[in-house]
Amino acid sequence: MTISPGEDRRVVAVQGLGFVGAAMAIAAASAVNDDGEPAFTVIGVDRDDALGRARVDALNSGRFPFETTDRQLTHALAAARERGNLQAGVDPAAYGLADTIVIDVPLDIDWRSETPELRLAGFEAAIRTVGEWVRPGALVIVETTVPPGTTQRIVVPLLEDCLRDRGLDPGSVLVAHSYERVMPGADYLDSIVNYWRVYAGHTDDAAKAAEKFLSTVINVDDFPISRLSNTTASETAKVLENTFRATTIALMDEWSQFAEMAGVDLFEVVDAIRMRPTHANMRTPGFGVGGYCLTKDPLFGWLAAKVLFDQPVEFPFARAAVRTNDAAPLRVIELTTELLGGSLAGRHILLLGVSYRQDVGDTRYSPAETFARAAIGAGARLTAHDPLMDHWEELGCRVATELPSADDVDAVVLAVPHSGYRDIDVLTWFDRNQPAVIDAWDVWTAEQRRLASSLGCRVTSIGRGIHPRNGKS
Ligand SMILES: NC(=O)c1ccc[n+]([C@@H]2O[C@H](COP(=O)([O-])OP(=O)(O)OC[C@H]3O[C@@H](n4cnc5c(N)ncnc54)[C@H](O)[C@@H]3O)[C@@H](O)[C@H]2O)c1
Repeated sequence: MTISPGEDRRVVAVQGLGFVGAAMAIAAASAVNDDGEPAFTVIGVDRDDALGRARVDALNSGRFPFETTDRQLTHALAAARERGNLQAGVDPAAYGLADTIVIDVPLDIDWRSETPELRLAGFEAAIRTVGEWVRPGALVIVETTVPPGTTQRIVVPLLEDCLRDRGLDPGSVLVAHSYERVMPGADYLDSIVNYWRVYAGHTDDAAKAAEKFLSTVINVDDFPISRLSNTTASETAKVLENTFRATTIALMDEWSQFAEMAGVDLFEVVDAIRMRPTHANMRTPGFGVGGYCLTKDPLFGWLAAKVLFDQPVEFPFARAAVRTNDAAPLRVIELTTELLGGSLAGRHILLLGVSYRQDVGDTRYSPAETFARAAIGAGARLTAHDPLMDHWEELGCRVATELPSADDVDAVVLAVPHSGYRDIDVLTWFDRNQPAVIDAWDVWTAEQRRLASSLGCRVTSIGRGIHPRNGKS
């Protein structure tokens, strides 16, 4: 790769071109100065391996590396390529050209293990690479979701060591933390540029530099950014934000079980409670939690206390939420088994939706995967459909992108509320066969469920109290 930054533009390097970094690189390349001119030349950098090169090649050929329904994002990428202020590569020398380096690499937890641990090695290696190239005076912004304390206790010392090894002033780099709230989906780009941000600097100068950078990329007039006192507070904000969400989702799981048993429609209950302004954002029942963030992030507080501070705090709610949400799809297995007379062996299940979220082509830790593995393990034949992908990486199987016939299907499981599923013409689709229908995530409208029932399908929903156990299906 030839790295040729614009003559008078500041240079931004984005480390890690995944779901976050690829979109952040486009957001930065779309940023303009007060005079309306592009503010930055952006260089996206990934690892020199098959995955990294595929993401680099995609961006360099004007393709977003992931399926997306956000036309604004794909147009912004095309415009940046046309202007020539966005390029990608695998050469870490790019960090040496940058005024600002944005860290968007993962920091994993083996969250399904009995004894979950932080997997710090990859993240630390990424920071070291930056330390080997970063210029004195540059700003490094950590966007990765990390255990609170990481910037102060891991990132800054690693960068200082690297600078010292290079014979440079160890304090000459500005370090900040500002977490991403990006939501891959229909408003992917907007969820970066038209969305509120939190940030903090390791020093006052770092905070000021981060504010300047973020104010150029983000529409801060309409979406003000919040500065916190230190980077550990900013890291805590991200982790608490996601823990709050995961915990409230888990809470609804136990109330769903109660509602299904007691013949109560929990959606109706939540709608009524939401009239009270203090409870307006109450969650509704669903299929569990998937994706790369809500599955692991609630464990970061617990692991930070243990590993970074060596002062354990037990976090019982957060840890229970992770387990509850992970097990939620297995309740759908139980329901499906009951509707099919006590066994899934030899039965044909059509799974509608395999990603973890509506209108997103990301299958990482999707509840559908847990469901599919359990169904196949119980002897079912599974057909998977998803409008956003034709291959399911985790299961290594084909995914239908066109809605399959329901003629030889025993049960349809509605697993993801992709927008197209609300357009299914139930009367035509179930004309010749009336399978059981399990709506696991409030996917269908009341009318679609009513029509399926009227044809003779046994229809049930997570959280709706129309459950075989109370005789209302
Ligand atoms: N996916 C989301 O919706 C989302 C939202 C908010 C925050 N986050 C957080 O953002 C971070 C990144 O998540 P993601 O979903 O983009 O992950 P991802 O796995 O999609 O992408 C990470 C990328 O980093 C690259 N990478 C790893 N080590 C590298 C290195 N040393 N040098 C250069 N590239 C390297 C990988 O090859 C990969 O392309 C995580 O901390 C995640 O929790 C994700």
